[in-house]
Amino acid sequence: MRDPRRVGILISGRGSNMRALVEKASGYESALVASNKPDAEGLEWARVRGLQTWTLSSKGVAREDFDRKMSSVLDNHRVGTVALAGFMRILSPWFVGEWRGRIVNIHPSLLPKYRGLDTHARAIEAGDVFGGCSVHIVTEELDAGEVLGQAEVAIEPGDTPQSLEERVLAAEHELYPRVLSKFANR
Ligand code: GRF
Repeated sequence: MRDPRRVGILISGRGSNMRALVEKASGYESALVASNKPDAEGLEWARVRGLQTWTLSSKGVAREDFDRKMSSVLDNHRVGTVALAGFMRILSPWFVGEWRGRIVNIHPSLLPKYRGLDTHARAIEAGDVFGGCSVHIVTEELDAGEVLGQAEVAIEPGDTPQSLEERVLAAEHELYPRVLSKFANR
């Protein structure tokens, strides 16, 4: 049985948001860390801490085939909420349907502004006073599902995309666990 308070965290890389979700977990459990990249840095961190992990290289695997395998592993761990944390692979419509309303993501902009990539550069270029991050529900449309929470980060004179990214990332690590605590219990 899927339990919404058992969270499956999906990563592809360094996994700094995954670490924040694990370390600040309250009201939910990190039931599984899964990756489509066997060499993702974050996987090793999770293994060392004794978390359940699963990985399968998605290279050359049809999108839905990969997603079906991942979904059954999530079910084996009785996951009920899927948290994307730098998962760099578009999910198949099948997976989004199978987990409808139970997949969340963190995006480094104040949605609906700047869906997609290069969010910090676009915010600076536009002369925005604030950048920030959003936690949202994942739907078939990229970065377009219901926003569950946001954090604003002031853009300072002389900010580069890199300097802004650093401060927004710190804000992500506060926001994501906080929003997930509520969402896992709703
Ligand atoms: C973060 O910028 C997050 O907003 C975006 O992907 C990046 C993941 O970084 N969705 P990390 O792997 O959590 O460190």
